[in-house]
Amino acid sequence: MAQRVLITGGAGFIGSHVADLFLREGWTVEILDNLVTGKRVNLPAKARFHEMDIRSTEAARLVREGKFDVLVHLAAQMDVRKSVADPVFDANTNVVGTLNLLEAIRAGESRTRVVFSSTGGAIYGDFVTPPNVETFPKDPESPYAIAKYAVELYLAYYGRVHGLDAVSLRFGNVYGPRQDPHGEAGVVAIFSGRILDGQPLTVFGDGEQTRDYVFVGDVARATWLAATASLPPQERLDSRALNVGTGAGTSVLTLAAALKRAANSDVPVQHAPKRPGEQQTSFLSVAKIEKTLGWKPAVSLDEGLRETFEWFAAQRGTAAGAAR
Ligand SMILES: NC(=O)c1ccc[n+]([C@@H]2O[C@H](COP(=O)([O-])OP(=O)(O)OC[C@H]3O[C@@H](n4cnc5c(N)ncnc54)[C@H](O)[C@@H]3O)[C@@H](O)[C@H]2O)c1
Repeated sequence: MAQRVLITGGAGFIGSHVADLFLREGWTVEILDNLVTGKRVNLPAKARFHEMDIRSTEAARLVREGKFDVLVHLAAQMDVRKSVADPVFDANTNVVGTLNLLEAIRAGESRTRVVFSSTGGAIYGDFVTPPNVETFPKDPESPYAIAKYAVELYLAYYGRVHGLDAVSLRFGNVYGPRQDPHGEAGVVAIFSGRILDGQPLTVFGDGEQTRDYVFVGDVARATWLAATASLPPQERLDSRALNVGTGAGTSVLTLAAALKRAANSDVPVQHAPKRPGEQQTSFLSVAKIEKTLGWKPAVSLDEGLRETFEWFAAQRGTAAGAAR
């Protein structure tokens, strides 16, 4: 019988790519999403859709009774700035909403593996020298990252005390088709829009701040492998945590140049004052995931940006076509 996965946040950017991949692998895919940022057009036709909130009793019932082999938990309030403006809302969704699902697994009879979407970009903070290794100290600097860290602590607890089978994937800055400007790699969406408008690209500060940009197709494959591979025992907090990145830091200036190349554009780059509190350097060691899952990023930055820009350009075409 086909294996069953429930993907929360499956109408969103990363979740819809994850859903496509599980379907290609022959799984039965169900999606739970309240469409707060997710979109119906992202839902694959072959997936069964439940329009629900992860904080609801219906969501808990679905998880408890759905006989899922795997829960890929991606639904979240994912806007770092929004978490700063409203930490209560952020924690309600990202911590309490997650606990609602974990308690449902505990109450149910299926041994459902949880694959959780944590953050490699924001969990380590600024006091470590990249490449960031999973066991580095954590110094989350936003309510968003604090909530992700809290969930990882809960998962380790559920693993030790209740035998929950869980893995935390600490994603870098994920970019690709269907992304929006509010995520951790929002700059790719913003720059793509500016290029399409023929406007200059604004870089804050000197533009030397680095991030680990990882293509969404590679992230989906890491997620699928984490759902299916045999994993190390849950001992310490970081035992079941895996960075998902490229191992390389890319500066904003390099990213701007690469995107302009991908788009064949010569719009200028302009500088604006540095934004307070912005992290300077962040990129991830990927040695552990390579050893544990045999995963390596397959898509280069140039290829990934080309695909992403083409998607944004095609979206404009569709919108213009629809407006005519
Ligand atoms: N994009 C990145 O660079 C990145 C980096 C690290 C971690 N992550 C994490 O990966 C996950 C997916 O992010 P994304 O970039 O695809 O964002 P996204 O906003 O496209 O996806 C999140 C989905 O969750 C849904 N959702 C939000 N609140 C919900 C709720 N209360 N109940 C049910 N559904 C709800 C939204 O409608 C959306 O479809 C998030 O947990 C995010 O924190 C993303």
